[in-house]
Amino acid sequence: MMQKQWRLAARPDGIPDRSHFALTDAPIPSLEPGKAVAKTLYLGVAPVMLRYMRNETEFESPIALGAVMPGRGVAQIIESDCASLPVGAVVQARLGWQEYALIDESDRPAPFLLPTDLPLSHGIGAVSLSGVTALVGIRDIGAVTATDRILVSGAAGGVGSHVAEIAKALGAQEVVGIAGGPEKCARLQRDMAYDQVIDYKNADVDLALDTLFPEGIDLYFDNVGGALLDNILGRLRRRARVVICGSIAEYLTETENKHRFINLQNLGRQDAKMEGFFVFDYEEVYPQCIQMLATWVREGALNPVEDISQGIETLPGALADLYLGNNVGVRMVEVGQPDLPL
Ligand SMILES: NC(=O)c1ccc[n+]([C@@H]2O[C@H](COP(=O)([O-])OP(=O)(O)OC[C@H]3O[C@@H](n4cnc5c(N)ncnc54)[C@H](OP(=O)(O)O)[C@@H]3O)[C@@H](O)[C@H]2O)c1
Repeated sequence: MMQKQWRLAARPDGIPDRSHFALTDAPIPSLEPGKAVAKTLYLGVAPVMLRYMRNETEFESPIALGAVMPGRGVAQIIESDCASLPVGAVVQARLGWQEYALIDESDRPAPFLLPTDLPLSHGIGAVSLSGVTALVGIRDIGAVTATDRILVSGAAGGVGSHVAEIAKALGAQEVVGIAGGPEKCARLQRDMAYDQVIDYKNADVDLALDTLFPEGIDLYFDNVGGALLDNILGRLRRRARVVICGSIAEYLTETENKHRFINLQNLGRQDAKMEGFFVFDYEEVYPQCIQMLATWVREGALNPVEDISQGIETLPGALADLYLGNNVGVRMVEVGQPDLPL
């Protein structure tokens, strides 16, 4: 039996397109001792994948040309010789861009079981690593409080789309989001619990920040980096917290052209704190976070916004969408249906 796989065909200079990938056929893997065969149901895409393709990152192995594209997703176990991955279970795991994968517990983060009473697509976003990233960022790094004046950039993206609802579930009163374009900004308010929005592509951002934060910002959740981060650093209140989640505005920028910060000293003046984090290093809190996120979804406090295309063929376009600003919410691809009862 054969399956489809996407392999890296060329390293992109900028936003990737179809020519950087090759769609190939390969045998479905056979079961091996201590492992499980998983059928892919959904695959997620993440901005950082472009950095793997360009061989730029320190924290994952570079992808060799010709190798199957790495990526995490939701899968159902169809054969198993691993007690923690029983046949029929639905897991979030490192699958790669392929229809079937041989997985085991040795990956870090290890595969984890997903609740099956919720839509399985949530295992890519809200009840998975996007949700955990938003939760760890706003709660553990940002130490959100009820009185914080909060700003989130990349607010309509995979992580950002969860931040306002999670902040409010933790007691926050008001959250402002920044995103690009009127449609996204309308959805921030309608579907993602943002109270005020700034359309950075059409509004005067300085004027909007002056108006919405006349006394400054207590908590900034940053998905974008660069000049916007620098601007916010100049607007911090005393004991503000800046959460460095990501810097998508600069992932395609050569080192010599990256933004030179002029407002860093304001951290000292305001007794403020700026801290980054990498969700893969928080594996010990995944079970507690997943349970909390799933409960919020069941109770209606967290309403995942998902942007799903159909078929493994759509993966290259899905990754490009992140850099083109085409996605609203968590961008993912539906690859297959479960074969076994849930
Ligand atoms: N710390 C961690 O462990 C961790 C985990 C996951 C993700 N991340 C990071 O978190 C951020 C969000 O990730 P995600 O997976 O949720 O992706 P995402 O936000 O869905 O990324 C796509 C969005 O980014 C925005 N964008 C693209 N290019 C931009 C630019 N030049 N300037 C400003 N915005 C731009 C676009 O929204 P607009 O149309 O609004 O511009 C686009 O829709 C990324 O920086 C990612 O690397 C970090």
